[in-house]
This record gives sequence, C-alpha cells and structure tokens, in this order.
Amino acid sequence: MLDQDGLDALRAELLTQVAAAADSRGLEEVRVAALGKKGRVTELMKGLGGLSPDARREAGQRLNAIKDAVAEAIEARKAELAEAELEVRLAAETIDVTLPARPFTVGRIHPISQTVEELVAIFGEMGFSVAEGPHIEDDFHNFDALNIPPEHPARQEHDTFFLPPRGAGEAPLVLRTHTSPVQIRTMQKVAPPIRIICPGRTFRADSDATHSPMFHQVEGLVIDRKTHMGHLKGTLIEFCRTFFGIDDLPVRFRPSYFPFTEPSAEVDIGCSRQGGTLKIGPGADWLEILGSGMVHPKVLVNCGIDPEVYQGYAFGMGIERIAMLKYGIPDLRTFFDSDLRWLRHYGFVPLEAPSLVRGL
Ligand code: DAH
Repeated sequence: MLDQDGLDALRAELLTQVAAAADSRGLEEVRVAALGKKGRVTELMKGLGGLSPDARREAGQRLNAIKDAVAEAIEARKAELAEAELEVRLAAETIDVTLPARPFTVGRIHPISQTVEELVAIFGEMGFSVAEGPHIEDDFHNFDALNIPPEHPARQEHDTFFLPPRGAGEAPLVLRTHTSPVQIRTMQKVAPPIRIICPGRTFRADSDATHSPMFHQVEGLVIDRKTHMGHLKGTLIEFCRTFFGIDDLPVRFRPSYFPFTEPSAEVDIGCSRQGGTLKIGPGADWLEILGSGMVHPKVLVNCGIDPEVYQGYAFGMGIERIAMLKYGIPDLRTFFDSDLRWLRHYGFVPLEAPSLVRGL
C-alpha cells in the first residue's frame, strides 16, 4: 500500500471523493474518512513506525504530500459548496417588493376621531361643511353674543375654566364651554346662506363617570331665508337614524330652553331597558341626545344678520355621549386614559374610513 503506485491510487481516489461531495455534510464525511483520527491517511501514518528509517522517511513524505493535497482540495471544495448553498438560499428567500403590503393593523383610530368622521360623512352628504374656532374664547363669543348676559343663570351651569385676569374692567378669557361660539364666529365672518357643523373640544370644571373636564361637542348651524322648524326636525331625524343605523328609530322633539334659541327643543331617541341592558331602537323608553332650536333673533342681530330676512336653526350634542351609546362604551373617563388595551378593543382600523356608501 505504501509503494508509489498504491499511494498514487489513494491520492487519486481521495481527490475524486472530495470533488464528488455534493454538500458540506458529504464533504465532512470524506474528510473524516481520509484525515480523521481513524481516517485512511492517518492509519497509514500510524503504520510508518514498522518501516526501516529510509523507507519511513520516504513514505512519510509521500503521505504528508497526500494529506496536504487532500486538505487543500477539501478547503477549495468547501468554499465552492458554501457559495452554491448561499445561491440556493438567496434564490429561495427572494422577496418581491412589488407585492401589495399586508394591511397594517397596529395603530387604532380613537372612537372620538371615528365618531367625528361619521358626523362629517353624514352632515357632509346633507351639504354641511366643517367650521372651526379657538379653544380659548372671550366672554362675548362664549356667552354674551349667545344671549347669555353676565347675570344669566346659564352661566353658572357651565362650570367655566377662567384664564388669569386681564386688564381692569376686562372679562377674563375662558376655555370655551361649548362649541356654540363657533356659530357666532361663522355668522360674523360669512354671509348667509350658512350650513356648517363644528366638531371640537370643549372644557368644563366637572369630572365623574359621565363628565370629563375636556370633552367634545358638535355644533350645527343653518341660516337661510326660509329656514324653519320642519327643516330642523327633518335634518335631525335623518341624522339620528343614519348615525345609529336604525331606519325606524323613534325620534322625539321635546320643548326645552336655551338662551340662544327660540323655540328650543331637546331631542330624544327611542330605547328599551330590559334586564338592565340599554338597547337603542323602538321601545318603551327615551334617551336624550341633543339640544336644538331656531336661532334666537337677538343672536342674529349680535352677529349683524337681519332677523327679518334670515332665520336659522342650530343644534349641539356631546360626541362622547353619542359614541358611548353607539359603541357600548360604559365609562366616559376611559376615553382619555390612553390605555392601549382599551384602544385596541374600542378603536377602529385606520383605513376603514366611515362613508355613507359602505355603511358607518
Ligand atoms: N351649547 C349647548 C350646550 O353646551 C348645546 C346646544 C343646545 C347647542 C342647543 C345648540 C343648541 O346650538 O341649539 O349645552
């Protein structure tokens, strides 16, 4: 075996095996069988001890040369295989970046934002546009112009947040206690016809399960030459039925009082309270959801509009309240806790924007 022919044959055989190894595992097996502790080259080296010194030296050199050649071939083959395996993996893991993305559902739309979008969708379809006003208001826009003079008892009901006093004789600024001042600002700025809603933040010093010091209202205002109570009723009945998605929802107008409307009406929707659960729809009970009325002539005059020519109606409601009723949210304070578990539960998927066509 240790003669020249035998060693040449061994060398050729081992190099063929290396070249034939189809993957890195196969190559490792070839390496162990040739150069491992009990490998063929190793075994032959162990046998060198029995040879004469001259024969040992000669055979030893030849075996070493074989060992080096095989080891070198293994390294080369290993690099080749690694590259081929990488090619296969890259081909298998190719990502087509032009494929459409999966829907991204991590973030949620807050129920207040969703409800505002729904209000905009419904009233937008009826021809209303959205108006906005400042959160910090003056006495005139928040109270006086709305026919709530300083001595009026309605002022006390508003639990107003006052800003620090201004100059002597000047009423302090306030955080707006309702969205009604946006009516005033719009009428001062825009000539009739007017048809707006004003959703936005409002502030009152009050906090319990049904009150939060910051909350949201939506105000509606229509001013035109021949606007009457029938328009108010039709608009609000249509709104209630569309918003709650109940075609035969009973809607009731109950005489009421607001300083800025005459006559005034509160609006109730039908519900039933059986077994402690509240269900909105035809039933034995009523639930108040908004205030409304024909804009008081004094308010029109305060905004420079001639009440002999123009009339209008207005309405206002709490957005948290209608959202709680529609989506079965029991506690108002949870709206503003920023609790992610709550948001995941009550929030809305971002790209499902409310529209009348696809349903609210
Ligand atoms: N501003 C009233 C409030 O905060 C709500 C309201 C009632 C607004 C009747 C109106 C209205 O425009 O006509 O309680």
